Amino acid sequence: MGFIELKDVTYTYPLMHTPALKNITCSLEEGKFYGVIGENAGGKTTFCNLLRGLIPHFYQGKLSGEVLIEGEDIRKKDIDVLSTRMGYIFQNPFTQISGVRKTVFEEIALGLENLGIPKEKMIQRVIEVAELLKIEELLENDPNRLSGGQRQRVAFASIIAMDMDVFVIDEPTSQLDPEGTERIFEIIRMLKDKGKTIILVEHKVDLVAEYADEVLIIQGGELVRKGPVKEVLSDVGMLERGAMLPQAVILNRELMENGICLPEVPVTSEECIRLLLERGKEHGKN
Ligand SMILES: Nc1ncnc2c1ncn2[C@@H]1O[C@H](COP(=O)(O)OP(=O)(O)OP(=O)(O)O)[C@@H](O)[C@H]1O
Ligand SMILES: [Mg+2]
Repeated sequence: MGFIELKDVTYTYPLMHTPALKNITCSLEEGKFYGVIGENAGGKTTFCNLLRGLIPHFYQGKLSGEVLIEGEDIRKKDIDVLSTRMGYIFQNPFTQISGVRKTVFEEIALGLENLGIPKEKMIQRVIEVAELLKIEELLENDPNRLSGGQRQRVAFASIIAMDMDVFVIDEPTSQLDPEGTERIFEIIRMLKDKGKTIILVEHKVDLVAEYADEVLIIQGGELVRKGPVKEVLSDVGMLERGAMLPQAVILNRELMENGICLPEVPVTSEECIRLLLERGKEHGKN
């Protein structure tokens, strides 16, 4: 059984007539990195709210089907306990900061205080995490006066300090430039290497192809595809269904139209270059 199990889950927000999520069945395993993609208003953030227990603990509305976390129904889970194990990074970095703390140091310490960690250990943890995420120079700053990228890194620092097992991350880079995006993905890669379970909503499908183990495509409230990155993202049939595919897949299609057939469909540019170089060598031999 997966770490998180959804069985025929349908959810409708209060006062809405159509469900935001329809008949979702899937299983998420511990230690895996899931990339969630799909069109705007498709239900990705709602899916995150469900995994975090905000549905049904915070959002009322109509929920049917089963959501199991480690085999236990989410309706029976204590949301406070769940939130100490499952970290969340918001879609908009400007809503992330608590606004009640005067320094970044205190902001990162906030969650640890809530966990009742002794002061000395807390100070040590904040410093360690700040070093890890290279934000030492921000520790004395006012958290309300950070750039979007800095805010996102502070948000990651807060939940990494609490040593959570699961990270639900909703479009962390949508407001960041390429450099800020790269820094966030360095952090996410580090979490993956530590064996954390990651559920990342991300529009930049090339990054999903590079980092994730599996992909979920959520369109119109439905889970239209779930499977290994290579399998799902190399399927050009998904284009007709409105999904975005990696540049390498699009390029491969154009190569094929020009008579250049690679032995497999590349999903990252590195893979594409490798396959082209191998093909070049083969041709050199003949
Ligand atoms: N609090 C809410 N109350 C009522 N309807 C909502 C609420 N939040 C989202 N919805 C509706 O649910 C549907 C799914 O929204 P959701 O935010 O999950 O989509 P999304 O895939 O995250 O979109 P985006 O890519 O724009 O972030 C939309 O039709 C949206 O209008
Ligand atoms: Mg969203």
